[in-house]
This record gives sequence, C-alpha cells and structure tokens, in this order.
Amino acid sequence: MGYRVVVAGATGNVGREILNILNERQFPVGDIAALASRTSTGTQVSFGDKTLTTRDLDTFDFAGWDIALFAIGSDATRAYAPRAAAAGCIVIDNSSVYRYDPDVPLIVPEVNADVITGYAKKNIIANPNCSTAQMVVALKPLHDRARIKRVVVSTYQSVSGAGKDGMDELWEQTKAIYNPIQEFKPKKFPKQIAFNVIPHIDNFMADGSTREEWKMAAETKKIITPSIRVTATCVRVPVYVGHSEAVNIEFEQFLDEDEAREILHQAPGIIVIDRREDGGYITPNECVGDHATFISRIRQDSTIDNGLNLWCVSDNLRKGAALNAVQIAETLGARILKKGCAAWPVCKPERNSSAVSESVVTILKNRIQSPKGQSPLAWLIARWIPLKTLCGPVPWPSVLKRLCPQTACLPSLKPLTRPSIPMRAPAMTKRLR
Ligand SMILES: NC(=O)c1ccc[n+]([C@@H]2O[C@H](COP(=O)([O-])OP(=O)(O)OC[C@H]3O[C@@H](n4cnc5c(N)ncnc54)[C@H](OP(=O)(O)O)[C@@H]3O)[C@@H](O)[C@H]2O)c1
Repeated sequence: MGYRVVVAGATGNVGREILNILNERQFPVGDIAALASRTSTGTQVSFGDKTLTTRDLDTFDFAGWDIALFAIGSDATRAYAPRAAAAGCIVIDNSSVYRYDPDVPLIVPEVNADVITGYAKKNIIANPNCSTAQMVVALKPLHDRARIKRVVVSTYQSVSGAGKDGMDELWEQTKAIYNPIQEFKPKKFPKQIAFNVIPHIDNFMADGSTREEWKMAAETKKIITPSIRVTATCVRVPVYVGHSEAVNIEFEQFLDEDEAREILHQAPGIIVIDRREDGGYITPNECVGDHATFISRIRQDSTIDNGLNLWCVSDNLRKGAALNAVQIAETLGARILKKGCAAWPVCKPERNSSAVSESVVTILKNRIQSPKGQSPLAWLIARWIPLKTLCGPVPWPSVLKRLCPQTACLPSLKPLTRPSIPMRAPAMTKRLR
C-alpha cells in the first residue's frame, strides 16, 4: 500500500527535483502522475528508473489522489490548487499564493512540523520561499537558546530560483559574451546576469524593498515567531544552483560563537563547515544535490551586545523547494494519513546526501543547446575557448574531503562533469545591455 501522488509542474526545475527526491527517499508511492501544461503534455520525465509521461493539468481529475505536490507558477496555482483540494487531494504548494493565508500552515519540518494539523481548513499546505527555508533552519535552534530579536540578511540567489528560463538566460548570455555574433537581451532578469549581480528579485513595493525581501520577513515571522524582525537585501547572482546568505543575528541573550557552532552542529538538517583557513567554508557549488543547509563563518558581531554573523548555503531546488515539500509529505504521512508509512521517520537529520544530484546535472545539460544542433563541446572548441577552463570536472570528493572533517557523512559524492560554467571571461568584444 502506498500513496497516490501527483506532481504538478513535473517538467520544471522544482517538479523534476520532487520526482527525484520522492524516489531517493523511498517515499511510499503507490501510484504517481506527472502533470504539466498542455504545451508539454507527453514530455517524458524520470522517476527513479521509470519514465513518466506528463499529462495535462487542466483536464486532470484529482479525485482519489492523496497528495499533490504543486510546483507551478502563482496564476496556475490559483486556478488548480483549489480544484485539487476540493477533490480531497491534499496540496503541498511551492508557490507564494497560500503562504500568508492564516488558514494554511507554512511549514519547514525541522522548525514547525506541529502546525501540520492546520492543513484541514483548506486541504492545502504551503512551502516557504527558497531563501526563507534555509535561513529558518539555521535560526530556529539559535532562537530556542538565546531568543532572536532582529536579523539582517543579504542573499546571493542562484538563477535556478527563477525557474528553467532563468537558467537558460544565464547560459545564453554567457555564450553571447564569448561568441558575440548576436546580441542577447535580458528577458527573464531586468539586467544582464552573466558576469554580473542584480539587487532586485520580484516586484518593488511601496517602501522601496522588493517582494522577495518582504517574503523573507513575513515568512520567518509565520514560521518561527512574529516577534523576530527581519530586514533583507535579496540579490541575484550568476550561479546556477545554490543560494547563499550572509546573516547577522541580534539576540536577547548573549550567545557565544562556540556554543552557537555546537548548537548548529547538533541541529537537524544542518552541516557546519567552519574552519578559519583557506577554503574552510562552504560555497554554493559544493552544496548542489545535497539535502543539508550548510553553515560557515560563525563569528561574534562585536558591534552589538548580543550579535552573531554566519554564512548559510543550501541547494535552493532541494531544501528551498522540492526536499522541503517531500519532507512535508512525509510528515503528513507519519502524523495524519498513516497510510503505508505509520513508522515513517519525521525530520531525519539531513546529513547523508547520497550523491550530487544527477537531476541537476540533467537540468543543466538539458538547458544547454548549442547552435545548429552542435554538441556543446563542439561548439566550444569551434569558438577556441580554452577547454581546461571550460570542461574540467568539478573535484567534488577532494573539495568536500578537505572541507568536511567527518568525510563519513558525505560518503558517495561522485565526481561531477557538468556542462561547465566559464570561470574566466575572455575579453568582451561586445557588451550586453
Ligand atoms: N526554483 C526555486 O528555487 C523555487 C523555490 C521555491 C519555490 N519555487 C516555486 O515553485 C514553482 C515552480 O518553480 P520552478 O522553478 O520549477 O519553475 P519552472 O522551472 O519554470 O517550471 C514551471 C513548471 O510549471 C508548469 N506550468 C507553468 N504554467 C502552467 C500551467 N498553466 N498549467 C500547468 N503547468 C504549468 C511548467 O510546465 P510546462 O513545461 O508545460 O511549461 C513547468 O513544469 C514556482 O511557483 C516557484 O515560485 C521555486
């Protein structure tokens, strides 16, 4: 016996990761349906060693299905999530549509799994914004010890947070800069993202902040406690996957940096990599495909009485979206539905990622299309771009062995040859505007 599970948005960045994570964590799936828009009906997506053919969300009948993991845009969510919920299928939604609805629980299982009982009011559970999810995993155990008053956070958010079109735009712009045959104008992002950073994510609000920044504050209040004040600056950076955050925390009580490090070390879902030497910290490249939220650079802030600084990095497609949604489904199974997984482990510590996610590699490979059907390699050779710079495998195991003293906790990271991202720009002969 297992659950009848729907994944809506199965052709997107988050939807594909949901399918991977359901399979990786052996969620008890009895039957599964992969849905997308009509334009991609019939597209094949992977679910473990099976291939699923996507169906049209618009005509799908949710009656008899247990859980629907939604990873589609807000407008489509507004149209289809109530339909699924009304048919008796519990929706776990990745969009922002229901996050601030008082009748919908907003859940990060390591932090506030208990509020899951509130799902029944609308049959909908909301997943937080990617930047919020990883931050609250780090804040909660520190808040429990020393009560957080205020958080000042600056984010460095990857382009995959803007969906598959965001990844395409970074790749196409990068190619256009190396190979300036034709101009590539920004479409998804408001300015050039390749070799640049953009201090603007989502719409501007009346007070000059952006909605992404507002979301971080509002969601942290809903998930941890309304008394925490958060001020954020959210920045898009030319990284494919992995959001980073520089977090400054002011507490009510003094919290020593060593104690904070130990608290975080013990906390569920967190891996601390914090050595004060070259490379003794995490970067987004190293967190791709991992389940954990990584914390580095923990240090006292001596400019205030009770302050700490830290650096927080996680795979935004995983903890920031798909993994958190699957953890919610696990919690729902264990605590409420109890169908086929009565002893399901809730919030097991995410210290044991099996491998760098093949799915992310697949996403990147799928995103890379070279002109006239040439392979990316042939295209690059033709452009005389130094292969050493562009095609070197990322040395995951050696990097992680150096970074993580307990290498046993990262047992099987495979070397990953990814479609490479240029590390050095050649002289730009043409500028993108
Ligand atoms: N990426 C992140 O880090 C992240 C984190 C947290 C939350 N989220 C949220 O998760 C959702 C999905 O994000 P994403 O990054 O996966 O986006 P994406 O890569 O652009 O994928 C969007 C998916 O939604 C489907 N879709 C779009 N409009 C549809 C419609 N009218 N009917 C049916 N399916 C439709 C697309 O299907 P087609 O292929 O047919 O177009 C595709 O499968 C968004 O609400 C986003 O805000 C994303």
